[in-house]
Amino acid sequence: MKIVMIGNPQGGVGKTSIAVNLAASLNSRGYGVLLIDGDLFCESTRILHRRENKEDVKVATITDFLMDSLPLDEVIQEGVFFDYIAGDKSRGFYFKPTLRLPAEHLLDELKKKEEKYNYVIIDAAVRTPDQNMVFEAAADEIIIPVSAKSHYFVDQIEDYLQYLEGIKGDYNSKLTTTILLNKVDECNGNINLFRKYVNEIEQLENVTIFENSVRDSYLMSDLQWENKFLIEADSHVGIRQDFEHFVDEFLVG
Ligand SMILES: Nc1ncnc2c1ncn2[C@@H]1O[C@H](COP(=O)(O)OP(=O)(O)O)[C@@H](O)[C@H]1O
Ligand SMILES: [Mg+2]
Repeated sequence: MKIVMIGNPQGGVGKTSIAVNLAASLNSRGYGVLLIDGDLFCESTRILHRRENKEDVKVATITDFLMDSLPLDEVIQEGVFFDYIAGDKSRGFYFKPTLRLPAEHLLDELKKKEEKYNYVIIDAAVRTPDQNMVFEAAADEIIIPVSAKSHYFVDQIEDYLQYLEGIKGDYNSKLTTTILLNKVDECNGNINLFRKYVNEIEQLENVTIFENSVRDSYLMSDLQWENKFLIEADSHVGIRQDFEHFVDEFLVG
């Protein structure tokens, strides 16, 4: 079992899109997948609830498991495609002084599901690092979607990578981190500026970048709006191909 968090404290970089589509793509390739919505905004929960016709049903959440010790089995929603744990709009979780315990508890409980789930994909929260910490302390891998559109993004990534080095040192030495360039706009954007930012990211310490990137395409938001996955788009569509190439690379890695 591999636990993969999709994380970046910046909003709008594609965490939810990558998390939900990675889960769907791995599922379509025959892997057992559990998606955890770790974000208070609950966007991936919304997409999955709509798909499963559970929109008006109140379900147990990841916070019920982490804060109230509700058994894992009671918070997992069985999906038609893949299983998921809903996010909690009303409350988060904060454990910093005792981080090791909740992270180990999460790991121990997930490990009991090793037969069922090959991959646990976590859609992380935006701008609430404390909320993400338990996942960062438990994950095997963090995929960081980056939309390299301004210098601001580069500075933020440097801060986040440094912070993750601290998490590795204090709690989770097995953790690996890889950047996924998302919303790559080679037509309308200034490609030289984009290359300059990517170059700056490459110069940062402790960084690897997926060779495959995901282009900027209106289809991503259209499909999200329709609660659909990229694998349901026309197989010739470029962004679907980008994404499948990224998943191929992820599986080799
Ligand atoms: N490669 C892409 N091309 C175009 N739009 C994208 C792409 N990836 C994400 N988006 C869109 O950007 C917006 C923010 O993405 P989202 O996945 O919600 O980011 P986050 O979870 O990091 O806040 C959404 O409208 C989404 O559809
Ligand atoms: Mg999100």
